[in-house]
Amino acid sequence: MWEYTDKVKDHFINPRNVGEIENPDAEAMTGSIVCGDALKLTLKINKDTEVIEDAKFQTFGCASAIASSSILTEMIKGKTLDEAKKITNKDIAMELGGLPEEKMHCSVMGMETLEKAINNYRGINVEEDEHDEGAIICKCFGVTDTKIKRAIRENNLTTVDEITFYTKAGGGCGACKVKLEDILNEELAERERAQKNAPLTTVQKIKKIEEAIETVINPMLKMDGGSCKLIDIEGNIVKISFKGACSSCMASKNTLKGFVEPKIKELVDKNLEVVGV
Ligand code: FES
Repeated sequence: MWEYTDKVKDHFINPRNVGEIENPDAEAMTGSIVCGDALKLTLKINKDTEVIEDAKFQTFGCASAIASSSILTEMIKGKTLDEAKKITNKDIAMELGGLPEEKMHCSVMGMETLEKAINNYRGINVEEDEHDEGAIICKCFGVTDTKIKRAIRENNLTTVDEITFYTKAGGGCGACKVKLEDILNEELAERERAQKNAPLTTVQKIKKIEEAIETVINPMLKMDGGSCKLIDIEGNIVKISFKGACSSCMASKNTLKGFVEPKIKELVDKNLEVVGV
């Protein structure tokens, strides 16, 4: 038995904006009744301002699908198309006070239907939409590799079970699970590569420089009665102050450029420049 929030229960029992707008300015449908979930969204859009003036839905699915569709229509009414396009499946789930993880695919269905409807209004062919390209990986639910990769990236998924919760892929005969595992491993490797290459924030730089000074640089300088301290960072300029014997040493410039700077470049970031203050 799923644990539903009061808001999910409310939108399931009293769904808002059920039905179909006559002569809509935009419409879209995702899912299929055969697969167990389907959502049709129709929109009335102000042509001058691109504000969504009305939204109605028809859903075939479970309580989460109905609640997700209902809250989505409430969320988008009064928004411009550009504002509405920024709504993610996480926003939909959050607006409901959360969804059981196994039901997150209902929020994904809402987000995708909205994107399709906006594309429909703007005359963008569904085949041209990057989110709909890709090879079918899960035949039971017609889920493409593009959709699976997007769900992994946008929701930080780390297991095949989570992929099933968010996309339904793998939730039928299970024949696609090996392919899901392969896609997941590729995405996790890519995520790790991206994290390694990500530029350091100022706080991260400060932490790493102080660590380098304490564990590597100062133990060497202390052998000659000196030490150094981080004073400030401006962009890639690191300001260092010498203490003890180093502060009055004629060769401190050589120590700075010949030892401290190379060590900080090696241990923290090769783009840093170290200056004495
Ligand atoms: S092919 Fe994916 S569950 Fe059957």
